[in-house]
Amino acid sequence: MTHNLEGRDFITTQEWTTDELELALNLAADLKDKKRTNKPHRLLTDKTVFLFFFDKSTRTRNSFEAGITQLGGHAHFIEASTSQVAHGESPKDMGIILSSYGHGIAIRHDLVPGEGNKYMREVAEHASAPVFNMQCDVDHPFQTLTDLMTIREKFGNNLKGLKIAVSWAYAPSYAKPISVPQGLITLMTRYGMDVTLAHPPEFKLMDDQIELARNNAQTGGGKLEIVDSMDAAFENADIVYPKSWGVLDLFGNPDEALKLAANYKDWICDDKMMSIANKEAIYMHCLPADRGNEVTDSVIDGPHSVIYQEAENRLHTCKAVMALTMGGIKNQSG
Ligand code: CP
Repeated sequence: MTHNLEGRDFITTQEWTTDELELALNLAADLKDKKRTNKPHRLLTDKTVFLFFFDKSTRTRNSFEAGITQLGGHAHFIEASTSQVAHGESPKDMGIILSSYGHGIAIRHDLVPGEGNKYMREVAEHASAPVFNMQCDVDHPFQTLTDLMTIREKFGNNLKGLKIAVSWAYAPSYAKPISVPQGLITLMTRYGMDVTLAHPPEFKLMDDQIELARNNAQTGGGKLEIVDSMDAAFENADIVYPKSWGVLDLFGNPDEALKLAANYKDWICDDKMMSIANKEAIYMHCLPADRGNEVTDSVIDGPHSVIYQEAENRLHTCKAVMALTMGGIKNQSG
């Protein structure tokens, strides 16, 4: 089958078929090899992507900026707080105007449940260039596509029956978005994985995302189980992904959410916890991690950890999606 992804938005992984995600993963692997061997891959010469941030970032901003440069194009960094959006400029006007200047619009708007995904869809409705979700309240598709790439590098392409534990962990730094665990449970179930989600009772995910993950498990041949302890999730796990997230109803009151989180300081991924998982289990984290709270140094810097490989892969998946959607590659067979 031939696919042309030029002009396509990437707002959730769910909106791309597994064949389309496969194209992105294959191209990401090819671009990873080309970067390592210094082979030119200027697929987006003179193209511009706008990076529009309502929140902070290290990996996402820099993987997009470095990525578009390596592809021969250029990124413009825009902070919501220093643009006219801070004075109320509409998503419609942003979409029309930025797409008349360039070739892609990427947005991070992740800290207000009910707002970020809606905002980027409104931009996309009016933009004539593809819109990329650099993390919203619902999904973090570049992160979870990267996680899938990393898992496949470790375990091969057939992931059926592998167990992944997606667990809440304690962090005092800030109330982290809930889009990574949501993105993980909805994507990994499509690949036949046995997904176990663990969290204290207050740290629930969005009901519709749980429902979606259940449906995906049914179609993809995987499982979704929800438990209330990290230990239960880690039992026989091949992949562990413990990270913190906030309370759905308390993103407007982060101090209250952090106070609640402090009741669960024992939700830390340490060596004892890793000993419950399979002997060859890998430890993943999207980063930034709260060292000493979400995870001990001995685990995150230890033999199970794949965090740097995972973080590097953000560059390659980001370049692949931009190249496929911004006109770098017209038709791909898959
Ligand atoms: N994982 C991730 O999205 O990192 P940043 O918040 O640094 O972009």
